[in-house]
Amino acid sequence: MNLHANIVADIQHHKYETPTPIQSQGLPIALSGRDILGCAETGSGKTASFAIPMIQHCLYQPPLRGGDGPMALVLAPTRELAQQIEREVRAFSRTCGRSVRASIVVGGVPMHEQRHDLRNGVEIVVATPGRFIDHLQQGNTNLARVSYVVLDEADRMLDMGFEPQIKEVMNNLPTKHQTLLFSATMPKEIEELARAYLNKPVTVKIGAVSTPTANVSQRLEHAPEGQKLDLLVALISDEVAAEGTGGPPMPLTIVFVERKTKCDEVAAALREEGIPANALHGGLNQNEREAALRDFARGDIKVLVATDVASRGLDIKGIGHVINMDLPKTFEDYVHRIGRTGRAGTKGRATSLWNDRDSYLVAQIKQALSELEKGNGFVFATGKEARKEERQLAREFKSQLKMTSQGMLQTGTAGAVKVDDKYAHMAAATPATAGTGVADAAWDD
Ligand SMILES: Nc1ncnc2c1ncn2[C@@H]1O[C@H](COP(=O)(O)OP(=O)(O)OP(=O)(O)O)[C@@H](O)[C@H]1O
Ligand SMILES: [Mg+2]
Repeated sequence: MNLHANIVADIQHHKYETPTPIQSQGLPIALSGRDILGCAETGSGKTASFAIPMIQHCLYQPPLRGGDGPMALVLAPTRELAQQIEREVRAFSRTCGRSVRASIVVGGVPMHEQRHDLRNGVEIVVATPGRFIDHLQQGNTNLARVSYVVLDEADRMLDMGFEPQIKEVMNNLPTKHQTLLFSATMPKEIEELARAYLNKPVTVKIGAVSTPTANVSQRLEHAPEGQKLDLLVALISDEVAAEGTGGPPMPLTIVFVERKTKCDEVAAALREEGIPANALHGGLNQNEREAALRDFARGDIKVLVATDVASRGLDIKGIGHVINMDLPKTFEDYVHRIGRTGRAGTKGRATSLWNDRDSYLVAQIKQALSELEKGNGFVFATGKEARKEERQLAREFKSQLKMTSQGMLQTGTAGAVKVDDKYAHMAAATPATAGTGVADAAWDD
């Protein structure tokens, strides 16, 4: 592949034995200078597939001069994800030394250190969109040298309302640049973004798009709202007890809830039950957010109760169990959430508590499970227009349905599940039409 010797040395350091499919297909295309629309399941190594060519790209650019902005820019929806990507970029560019420097630009921390780095000159900036635009507007950096742009979790950035910031960047790039868009889910809106800003992109889609990874065994458990906490405590206590009696070690467990306040409440309730747990949500200050994640990643605190701020891109070794105490609103979010486990070929588990309000999403999950069971990739129509249609169908679905408590559904029994034919349109080869949407209050730049 003609990778620079320094990059090869850093890849060897990672002890990756073989490239993942998105890497073996995406890397040569990215190295050839083409734009990419890249989609592959959660935990399949998309980061390296854009980071390695990005470093190589920088190595072959004329060096930065005083006042120059970065050569490459990565935008990601959350601070923690941007920080993780920056760490990975640094790991792959270690041997390159000062010829490829990376810098992190995110909200929630003072501007001055970032300003200092940007003004001194860095080859690569990894940023959340809002803070990056702030620096552009203050004249701390500029786009004149940017010739490689990555939009990671592009669909989520659109969802969060970052479209103006993305446009601001894309409309002011030098003519000659390369753009790469990545996500495990690709709603129609992304195709529009791609049409507007990508130049004859090569679409690299590995497997079925917007599908939960088969590495995670999924379980649905019926739980009326008032019983959810007891059930959660029982679920986690059982695992703690199992470890205590010589069973498997309690895995790192991430519990997703709907709202920030509930995050704090549930973490406190778990602690009262003697289960150490941290909360992670956009209402915490950045130090608290980082501490919560650090404790969890180190395994000091085995339970992290989080909003969707933790649902995208985060790669924490040892997460063995994802619990949806509250199911998300969309199937895409479900795909990303359960994808925090079962990464890089490992196996994981997901347990979702559901009740009547989730009946529509549960039908989607069951259908996806049954398709996975049959070995079929399954594509849901995703995106906001698709969701509008889904909401309408969900209302119809609810009004017609006499919900019976079906208790637990395990992957192994999924074949038995029937989903009404009228939802078959959701299994679309091409997603439905696009629209506009709102930012989720659980997310903060
Ligand atoms: N070729 C490889 N061999 C072994 N492990 C790899 C390889 N490439 C990446 N990994 C590891 O796989 C894990 C997942 O990678 P990454 O975070 O890039 O996934 P992703 O596709 O971006 O997932 P998501 O959709 O959740 O963001 C990381 O721990 C990474 O170090
Ligand atoms: Mg990723």
